[in-house]
Amino acid sequence: MTQIFPSLLSADFSKLREEVAAIEKSADGLHLDIMDGHFVPNLTFGPPIVAKLRPHSKLFFDCHLMVSNPDELIEGFAKAGADRITVHQEACPHLHRTLQAIKALGCKAGVAINPATPIDTVSHILGEVDLILVMTVNPGFGGQKLIPEALEKAGALVQALEAKGLKDKILVQIDGGVDPKTCKRAQELKVDILVAGNAVFGQKNYSEAILSLK
Ligand code: DX5
Ligand code: ZN
Repeated sequence: MTQIFPSLLSADFSKLREEVAAIEKSADGLHLDIMDGHFVPNLTFGPPIVAKLRPHSKLFFDCHLMVSNPDELIEGFAKAGADRITVHQEACPHLHRTLQAIKALGCKAGVAINPATPIDTVSHILGEVDLILVMTVNPGFGGQKLIPEALEKAGALVQALEAKGLKDKILVQIDGGVDPKTCKRAQELKVDILVAGNAVFGQKNYSEAILSLK
């Protein structure tokens, strides 16, 4: 079944601990968006916030690094309790090395690609990666409209992985603009994990929102 990872970006930052507690039972993991004001035009938080939340949740912590210098930050997030660290292909001149460094720190390793980035750009690191994140909006903000072409690209990636016999080994995740309608198409395309910000934390009842997406 498709997994739903609520994105903390859309939560109320004045009460993060309560917000995470409210999704603890129904979510499949917690998506944490790290933005540096350089790779994307917005700023969020760093390892100290992740470390403070860690003791209060058993959820899988999925850290999405939208930063220009991921190599300098991955150790901090690993020590803060990240379970998976996803870096952007566009930000990593030595992607293979960066992925190996993430795994050496004991975390799962993910690679994200922006809407304009072809899936071929990750075809030579498939042996190093646990997850590929296909951005379905231009990263930086929650609450944007999903780009249909990017979602179809995620479907093409699922098919390519199936053809290579790698579908069981590598998860495909989408992030941005997931709502009940786009969610249905993502499920048809056999995407494994849907990140949902506004579609969960923008709703009255978070658990019901997660269940209805599923
Ligand atoms: C966008 C972030 C997403 C974002 C998704 O840059 O990576 O995780 O929070 O939010 P929604 O689901 O509201 O588009
Ligand atoms: Zn994200």
